[in-house]
Parts: sequence; structure tokens; C-alpha cells
Amino acid sequence: MKEMEIAVLPGDGIGPEVMDEAIKVLDVIQKKYKVKFNYKKALVGGSAYDEFGTHLPESTLQICKESDAILFGSVGGPVKEQNTKKWNGVEVNSLLGLRKEFNLYANLRPSKLYPALADSCSLRKDISEKGFDLLVVRELTGGIYFGQPKGRKYEGDDEIAFDTMVYSRKEIKRIAKVAFEVARKRRKKVTSIDKANVLTTMILWRQVVEEVAKEYPDVEYEPMYVDNAAMQLTKNPQQFDVILAGNMFGDIISDESAAIAGSLGMLPSASLAKGKFGMYEPSGGSAYDIAGLGIANPIAQILSGAMMLKYSFDMEEAGKEIEIAVEKLLNDGFRTKDIWQKGNIEINTKEVGDKIVEYLR
Ligand code: IPM
Ligand code: MN
Repeated sequence: MKEMEIAVLPGDGIGPEVMDEAIKVLDVIQKKYKVKFNYKKALVGGSAYDEFGTHLPESTLQICKESDAILFGSVGGPVKEQNTKKWNGVEVNSLLGLRKEFNLYANLRPSKLYPALADSCSLRKDISEKGFDLLVVRELTGGIYFGQPKGRKYEGDDEIAFDTMVYSRKEIKRIAKVAFEVARKRRKKVTSIDKANVLTTMILWRQVVEEVAKEYPDVEYEPMYVDNAAMQLTKNPQQFDVILAGNMFGDIISDESAAIAGSLGMLPSASLAKGKFGMYEPSGGSAYDIAGLGIANPIAQILSGAMMLKYSFDMEEAGKEIEIAVEKLLNDGFRTKDIWQKGNIEINTKEVGDKIVEYLR
């Protein structure tokens, strides 16, 4: 029997409760597809800080290294405690640490407006009723997030702070290839976001992406300035299939894409290394305000599990089955509080997991 090692990092806030539902769903899949998932739980974020005094302990990294994939929940604490030792820098330390350690350079963030959720969409009705289904491919281990030098200098009114935006031809090429490859499996269009009218890094970005595009004559390629893209997303999101972007622009554009889809609780993501290794996490945060109440939407976590099946375990069909079950749940009118609308049936976190398990059987 095929066995897979999964590092399970529930993290903080709603992380543990939505993770339980994802595992419930994966357990059905392992029986149905006759594979074995070996889960290894580890602490990350604030919960790790309590135990080890660090957000990303060595023991957690070790478990991840011994695994085929990481299933990640969320990290972060209550807004009021942002500046305490436990929570300060928790997201950067945990996430950027894992991304760098495992070379997770390709971040895939799908954003889809489910027809059943059209009423939760923040866009005008004549725009939302057309629906949309796009995928942001964000470069995740380079750009201004990691460029050197970075720092602060001088004092008083003379003080300055600086970051460096840098991209190599190699880095741009490999992320562009990811975008064109996935576009081939979708609607065959790549819109590459840049700021080539101002930034030198982005001139190289556009040049290299254009070269890669030539290797994919079957895929439509279009460059777009980031400011225009931000606007186009609200006016005509249907035009996008795959959106390719660097680290910072991808961060911003992917949040915007998620926001127009209605609820952050619906969207999964994958951060991939070369080969099959990847980290899978919901796009929403730790939602500390509703943690422990059992009302959080576990769909993003469950769909992150589905992405793991697809990208790390070559279990495309099993992943698809989970996606269909989620769609069925929505079509049948079942909703957690965050996406509930008049006429729907409100259910809690556990019930979502139970229902999906039921649909899968
Ligand atoms: C994200 C987050 C992170 C990022 C932060 C928390 C470091 O916003 O995953 O999009 O900026 O990449
Ligand atoms: Mn972000």
C-alpha cells in the first residue's frame, strides 16, 4: 500500500478545529483509495512559542523534513496582543521561515466564485452573476520580501529604512513556467502582473516572462501593470485565468482576488517546492475572535487537503471528489455563519466535515 507522511501543523486560533475536519475528510479518502496517510502533528506559531519559546521550533522543522507534505492551519493571535513576545512577528517567523527552509517558491492561490455563493460576492450583481474562476501564481521566496540589503540606518529625523527588490532571470523563469504549465490545464491564459513602467526588476520580469511565453504558443499571454490589474479585478474578473506575479504584488492581488470571492473561509492555497513537496494552507488567518466556538468555516482547510492530494500525491481524482462534495454542500444550502444568507441552513464546523464525509461515501 502506498504510504504518505504528512506533517500536520494546526497552529493557532481556528487552526486546530478546522484541521480536525480536514483530517476527517482525508481519512475517508485513504480508505476509499487504499492508501495510508501517516499524520505527524507538530506545533507552530503562538502555540509553539508557549512550549519552546520560538514560533518555528527545530523539532517541527525536523518533522516537516521527514514528510512528503505539510498541512498547515494558521498562525496569529488576538489583535490586542499583537505586540506581546508571544505574538510579535509570529506570521513572518512561521510562514517565511517555512517558505525559505523548504524552497516553497511557487504559491498557488485559486479564487473562485461559487454560483451558490454569488450573493456573498462584494462586487455589483451584474459583475458577480457571471462568476469567475482564477488562479494567482505568486513567486514566494524572492523579491522584496527576501532581497538584501534590508535594514535601518542613522538616527532621529535622518533615519532611513530600506528593502531591496531583486529578481534573477532564473527565479522569474521557473515561476513563469509554473504559471504556463498550470494554465495549460485550465483555460490557457496567463496575465503577468508587473510594474515595468517604473521598476528595473519588473522590466527584467516582463522580458523573461515574454521569453517563456514563446515556449507556450498554445497559451495566451498578456502583461498588465499591477495598478491596472487591481482595478480590472473589480470590474471584470472573468477576463482572468492564471495571474502570474512576484512576491509582493502577488500578496496584494491574491488578497483582492479572495475578497471578491466572498469569504476567506473558502479558499485553499498551495506553496510548492521543486518536485512534489508542498505546504498546503487555507488563505484566511487564525480568526482568533471566533476560535474555540466551533463555528469556523473548515472548507478552506479541507480544500487545502484536496490540493495536497493533487499536487503532492498525484491523487487528482480524489482531490476532485472533495471539490465536488464541497460544491454539493453549498448547493444543498448548508453554510457556516460566515457565508450564511437568508434561506440557508446554518451548520457548525464539525457538521461541515460530517456532511462532506457523507457526500464522499
Ligand atoms: C500571506 C501573508 C504573509 C505574506 C505574511 C503574513 C508574512 O500575508 O501569506 O499572504 O505576506 O506572504
Ligand atoms: Mn497576504
